[in-house]
Amino acid sequence: MSKEIKRYLVTSALPYANGPVHIGHLAGVYVPSDIYVRYLRLRGRDVLSICGSDEHGVPITIKARKEGVTPQDIVDRYHALIKRSFEGLGISFDIYSRTTSPVHAVTASDFFRKLYDEGKFIEQTSLQYYDEEAKTFLADRYIVGTCPKCGNDRAYGDQCEKCGSTLSPDELIEPHSAVSGSVPVKRETKHWYLPLNLYEQTLRHWILDGHKEWKSNVYGQCKSWLDGGLQPRAVSRDLDWGIPVPVEGAEGKVLYVWFDAPIGYISATKELTPDWEKYWKDDETKLVHFIGKDNIVFHCIVFPSMLMAHGGYILPENVPANEFLNLEGDKISTSRNWAIWLHEYLEEMPGKEDVLRYVLCANAPETKDNDFTWKDFQARNNNELVAVLGNFVNRALVLTKKYYDGEVPACGELNDYDRATVAELQTIKSALEENIENYRFREALKEAMNFARIGNKYLADTEPWKVVKSDPERVKTILYIALQITANLATAIEPFMPFSAAKILDMLACSRFDWETLGSMELLSAGHTIGTPSLLFEKIEDDVIERQLAKLAAIKAANQAAEASQQVEPQKDEISFEDFGRADIRVSTVKAAERVPKTKKLLKLTIDTGVDTREIVSGIAEYYSPEELVGRQVLVLVNLAPREIKGVVSRGMILMAADASGRLTLLQPSAETVNGAVVG
Ligand code: MF3
Ligand code: ZN
Repeated sequence: MSKEIKRYLVTSALPYANGPVHIGHLAGVYVPSDIYVRYLRLRGRDVLSICGSDEHGVPITIKARKEGVTPQDIVDRYHALIKRSFEGLGISFDIYSRTTSPVHAVTASDFFRKLYDEGKFIEQTSLQYYDEEAKTFLADRYIVGTCPKCGNDRAYGDQCEKCGSTLSPDELIEPHSAVSGSVPVKRETKHWYLPLNLYEQTLRHWILDGHKEWKSNVYGQCKSWLDGGLQPRAVSRDLDWGIPVPVEGAEGKVLYVWFDAPIGYISATKELTPDWEKYWKDDETKLVHFIGKDNIVFHCIVFPSMLMAHGGYILPENVPANEFLNLEGDKISTSRNWAIWLHEYLEEMPGKEDVLRYVLCANAPETKDNDFTWKDFQARNNNELVAVLGNFVNRALVLTKKYYDGEVPACGELNDYDRATVAELQTIKSALEENIENYRFREALKEAMNFARIGNKYLADTEPWKVVKSDPERVKTILYIALQITANLATAIEPFMPFSAAKILDMLACSRFDWETLGSMELLSAGHTIGTPSLLFEKIEDDVIERQLAKLAAIKAANQAAEASQQVEPQKDEISFEDFGRADIRVSTVKAAERVPKTKKLLKLTIDTGVDTREIVSGIAEYYSPEELVGRQVLVLVNLAPREIKGVVSRGMILMAADASGRLTLLQPSAETVNGAVVG
């Protein structure tokens, strides 16, 4: 039996304010949630869309430390950037708040205090890693080590980003501090734990029996957590950035970021409306959390347990988490700068907000990870938005201008084909609704585009530009229908492409229609004068795409060089003192240098070794020019057997250091030394 739904509360995962938002966030969370809430608003439903910045947690303090600024500086910077870029893309939150807001501090603090007062926490002292140099406990990402599951030597105390495992600091092999690099010791510290195990049965019943309709990735993750058995979870941390634990004797302790952040949804609703309790405490509210797959456990297990422990709150009706979006075949990564950043996109592609929204929805990782490529972006723009949607709207409007000076013509009698077309639109309307209500936004977008496809086909089949000569009366009906389909499109695409929907309304010179009018053939009355047609979408040329690909290629090259330079060759086999003594290395001076013709890498150097003057061919031309070498002191292995290289007999070897990427650098005595001095 389903209860009546009076209102909707839609939340979108609060992005961490330690970096800009990228297309992965958008495709996974914000584009789908915006489609959903725009649709609900068009239907006249009572809906609030809630979001804000997640401004606590260790990554923010680490970034601040690196840059030598305060955590507040970091979150101020990114909160403003994220908020502005969401607005730029038309993401229509009713509020975009932040977890450093005063209302949130009180709300989260009171929440904790109520649970504390009612004895809902376990208080426990344990041994945790402590950095004696930096004089700080090492929570979560402050501790780095080798992942026990995959061997990644840069795994964090809470998670390995390489294999995705959830970790605890004790599982890390060879742990060290991310603050000072030192090897930490263990110290006693007290924390508060939420005994998730107490809520296990209720959660099982609620999710596993009660929400079999949830997406299979979400349901599956919940089941595996629940089947694995739940443990108490610490909800406090030893950190100086966060909401202080509101308990005596808790100096230097703050709420764990995953405790305070979801309460941020509640605080933001409070900031938005005095009526906030209606949305959070009345079970005729439908609460929906839009998140990415890495947030599932927190939204389906931890936050619901917190809400149950507190009492009085409703639980989510659905948590439509998406999988991840990749970029050109590689995992999106903030630290490797492998992403398309929203604020950069908006700057580089002005006027193309809807194109991005369209592509990210058409390609959304709803059931599996998916790939974003610039080629696909271009193809979808040119073949779908320009050729189908833009083309149809333009033809309908331009012909109306041309034949009737922009006045909607009167509708004559419909023939069978007209009636079949109208009936088809009605069918699409229900498919569109059904898909959106069930979080299948890719399918829904296809249905919305079907309005344009059918319109295009209708014009192609009825050929008004030909018929106008033989039967001008018939053309009035054809264009009347084409204009009604155009008006329908303004509604059908609004959730997905709000800018283009507004443009269509503007060109039609009318204001927005209710969702219920979708499918109607009476949206524009005969005699109404439309506005000026302009193009909805522009073709994207190859050079635009090539520029974006070049930008990514440069990032990839920089990453590869950086990664290679961090790798170190393993140590070679042991040698004896005598073995080493056989190598004769001398301080020498470069007297002359020239390129070896027809080679890129080789220089012929004339060297004063103190013993003699000789020629050596060296592969350093990519890193040093002949001019910068002359006069320089270097180290030379002088008793190496001579070798002929490109017709020059090379006698000896200039010593250089090479990193794993092959980059070379010369070695030089740290002070001017006599030529022939022995190195060893
Ligand atoms: N900041 C988290 C992330 O980006 C999401 C927080 S969602 C909330 O993964 F519920 F905690 F707010
Ligand atoms: Zn791992």
